[in-house]
Amino acid sequence: MMKKIPHRIYLTEEQMPKQWYNLRADMKELPAPMMNPATLRPATEEDLYPVFCKELAHQEMDDKTRYVPIPDEILEFYKMYRPSPLIRAYNLEKALGTPAKIYYKFEGNNTSGSHKLNSAVAQAYYAKKQGLKSLTTETGAGQWGTALAEACSFFGIPLTVFMVKASYEQKPFRKAIIQTFDANVIASPSNTTDAGRKILQENPETSGSLGCAISEAVEKAVTTPDCRYVLGSVLNQVLLHQSIIGLESKIAMESIGEYPDVIIGCAGGGSNLGGLIAPFMQDKLTGKANPRMVAVEPASCPSLTRGKYAYDFCDTGKITPMAKMYTLGCEFIPAPNHAGGLRYHGMSPVLSKLYHDGYMEAVAVQQTKVFNAATLFAKQETILPAPESAHAIYAAIEEALKCKETGEEKTILFGLTGTGYFDMTAYTSYLEGKMNDFIPTDEDLQKGFDKLPKIPGIQG
Ligand SMILES: Cc1ncc(COP(=O)(O)O)c(C=O)c1O
Repeated sequence: MMKKIPHRIYLTEEQMPKQWYNLRADMKELPAPMMNPATLRPATEEDLYPVFCKELAHQEMDDKTRYVPIPDEILEFYKMYRPSPLIRAYNLEKALGTPAKIYYKFEGNNTSGSHKLNSAVAQAYYAKKQGLKSLTTETGAGQWGTALAEACSFFGIPLTVFMVKASYEQKPFRKAIIQTFDANVIASPSNTTDAGRKILQENPETSGSLGCAISEAVEKAVTTPDCRYVLGSVLNQVLLHQSIIGLESKIAMESIGEYPDVIIGCAGGGSNLGGLIAPFMQDKLTGKANPRMVAVEPASCPSLTRGKYAYDFCDTGKITPMAKMYTLGCEFIPAPNHAGGLRYHGMSPVLSKLYHDGYMEAVAVQQTKVFNAATLFAKQETILPAPESAHAIYAAIEEALKCKETGEEKTILFGLTGTGYFDMTAYTSYLEGKMNDFIPTDEDLQKGFDKLPKIPGIQG
């Protein structure tokens, strides 16, 4: 008799991967190089040193090393909350009446409540090793700020977090938890930086954006001695660290004789999705398997589905290097959306390139539909999902319902990136029927595209 697949598949500490996987090493064509805005030439590793610590600048530029050993100190930290479980959503399957098998990789089982800690601990560790005295960052929904505050307090590094004003106001407890780990939290845009003052002057009522908060955090880092900036998504180094999600998922699925037909993840800057798909994309790129991979983004901030594939700044203040990515324009400020962590104008250059070359799909969904899916999931699976993660849940449910129609027994894997306990303002507005769906018009988006940077010979 075939053994029943358990609800939760836990790897042992010994089974936890000891290396991260660098997807760029297997890409047929690499993402276009980052551009230094001062020289309008490809940025070098050294160009990044004033902003990032050296080891991370190296990881950012290293397209060749396929497997990067995870330092022992990071592995030891990981063991406090990893390996994370792979869960078979038996009850959700039953509620949907689908023949599909639904699995999710749950990353919410740590105080940050999300996958963000996987990269936060790595980045804080390398900063400590370099002898830096402080770090700065931005946070949208608050999970990244919490994760980095946790990691910095563990390694004893002071941290300043620029928190998008909309989240700062909607999520006072997120702010409090970041402060519990001794970080200094500032609502962005703020009067503490030139970039913030300029944005406030132009738009005093702005609810902020990740792009604004990044400008402020980078400015503070480069104007403070022995301080560097740390980013929680988008960058190659962050996708590298997040590959632990996909590597563990693959080992766990193999242990029960499974392989996904479709892999789904929410996409803000692309780090959890890039990490989840990494080893499966390796199989696709090397011809070993051909799973579908789907990015799910909010209809209010549709960078992949409606953005332009172009060079753009990673921040609103235009002080970061330019990356070629799907973007809505760095000045695009999305309507306040409850999935704060998905409100970023751009997308990881690696995911952008894979999407552009046809290796991935993308869909955009409206937030009321996302919350319908979130509440159904919570009732069936007893985990209250983060609004960001619920985008992936929505798409997984849609996929499973298609299987119900066709009778196909597909294996679906999605990333449940975090929990939603600090998102009760959003849940309340959904429950009270006050939640709006905002979809920008083509004219709204055109304003962002009109301001894309001009690079002679490359982009007019
Ligand atoms: C719970 C959760 N999921 C997903 C995301 C999106 O980020 P990324 O696309 O980098 O995974 C965030 C970002 O804040 C988040 O907090």
